[in-house]
Amino acid sequence: MRQTWIGTSWKMTKTLAESSSFARGLAARAHQDGWAGVQPFVIPPSTSLRLVADVLDGSGVLVGAQNAHWEDEGAWTGEVSVPLVVDAGARLVEIGHSERRTHFGETDETVRLKVSAALRHGCIPLLCVGEPEEVFARGGSTAFVLAQVEAAMRGLGPDEQRRVIVAYEPVWAIGEHGRAARPEDVSGVFEQLAAEFGSRVRALLYGGSVDAGNAARTLEVPHVHGLFVGRAAWTLPGFLKILDIAVSHGATCGST
Ligand code: 13P
Repeated sequence: MRQTWIGTSWKMTKTLAESSSFARGLAARAHQDGWAGVQPFVIPPSTSLRLVADVLDGSGVLVGAQNAHWEDEGAWTGEVSVPLVVDAGARLVEIGHSERRTHFGETDETVRLKVSAALRHGCIPLLCVGEPEEVFARGGSTAFVLAQVEAAMRGLGPDEQRRVIVAYEPVWAIGEHGRAARPEDVSGVFEQLAAEFGSRVRALLYGGSVDAGNAARTLEVPHVHGLFVGRAAWTLPGFLKILDIAVSHGATCGST
């Protein structure tokens, strides 16, 4: 049985004090509970990456970065590279989130370069893909998402592909203006993602308005190996609740 991945990106939230408090609480619970069958991960803003990685060291919770440049170093003002985030404690790098594609000009090509950079430095690429509302409305979700994954993994060998985690996050489901997907909205995409990439990548996750009310039913969608959560996991109790749901889910059924 695969493990269930449950993670949260804090996006552009949390001061050092807030990050510390969350991470300390999570570390305490990790030592107490362990979350059998579940791999938790936390993706803080770059300002608190080092702090959170230090606090969670040895807890079993993976820590990641929200973005990293494809070059290792150089004159790229305002950017951080994969070696820099690894040095700060990241073991995973989020790449291609729709907010970065929409607001910061991320393209399939920059996403591909960043996936390669993450792999080059031993990081897990957390590749985010998802279709906009108009594509969903005309029934084009599956083709759109498969093309994004294909583009991001172009040129990778089988061993490299096996380290990639894909997070399917429909753009229309993300954030405070998003609406939670129903299982039937996304099951077709997961069916095809699994058929094309399921045995090639490490895991397929779902993200977009996940909360404690819909986490269990989302984990029941075939081929969903975990959840990538924003707002509902920005408080420690919120994240712990979803972790507990994933543990219960894993205890009752294996993910495919
Ligand atoms: P929300 O859960 O806040 O919709 O955000 C999801 C997300 O963007 C995770 O990457």
